[in-house]
Amino acid sequence: MTELVHTRAELAAARAGLTGTVGVVMTMGALHAGHETLLRAARKQADQVIVTIFVNPLQFGPNEDFDRYPRTLDADLEVCRRAGADVVFAPSVAEMYPDGQPRVRIDPGPLGADLEGQSRPGFFHGVLTVVLKLLQLTRPDLAFFGEKDYQQLTLVRRMARDLDVPVEVVGVPTVREPDGLALSSRNRYLSPVEREAALSLSAALRAGAEAADAGRDAGGVLAAAHAAFGAGAPGAQLDYLVLTDPDLEPGPVAGPARLLVAAWVGTTRLIDNAAIRLAPRS
Ligand code: PAF
Repeated sequence: MTELVHTRAELAAARAGLTGTVGVVMTMGALHAGHETLLRAARKQADQVIVTIFVNPLQFGPNEDFDRYPRTLDADLEVCRRAGADVVFAPSVAEMYPDGQPRVRIDPGPLGADLEGQSRPGFFHGVLTVVLKLLQLTRPDLAFFGEKDYQQLTLVRRMARDLDVPVEVVGVPTVREPDGLALSSRNRYLSPVEREAALSLSAALRAGAEAADAGRDAGGVLAAAHAAFGAGAPGAQLDYLVLTDPDLEPGPVAGPARLLVAAWVGTTRLIDNAAIRLAPRS
């Protein structure tokens, strides 16, 4: 049985009834197979699972898609039931921020101003603030986040470590369409032509990973990824394509690394990333 609650008081009552290890999956709704994978990972690793569904206004810029972001609660509940969630917390904005926008926010530090933070100022302040608030409200042992939003996952991990938040942050691999497109709630904005152009992102990552497997160095990996991005269907505007270490620190020269890409396809911003391994330097 999945219990739906809308207020913090109802959540506190439902949370008090949960036993064993508790996992949380935080979402903004519009659930797809990627979220379902998160839920199933939580189901497997925790005794009880809470899902939060909240389109957080703090993490949207003034010209972003807060108003048109898909809100599909009935369908989302169906996914939560199917995946065996115990509690779904779907608060209103007024319930989450009763005094209006919070004056105190979490500062994501320098990493929050890089990559996504460069194009979306204030984005990670909004994300980390709501994530910390939801962690306080749900008090989970485990919190599951998709690797698709790799910078978010990294910053949530950092926040938990730096601020001694008593939760284990678990990263869950990205789910892809058979042609490579990473699942995202924003894919539903894409026209068929834009969807074709969106494949440039995963093609770039694939080419970068293949170049790394073939023993190319960081420069060669980036060159292969750029070439594949450019060879895709027209319509994707590259924002960044970077190679970092697994913690998003700059410049790996060898060993485990992360290749990250962001691009605009029409008015839709898409991101993707992949783990790669660079050959040891000879
Ligand atoms: O990844 C998301 O859907 C959101 O950024 C999150 C973590 C639910 C916070 O609003």
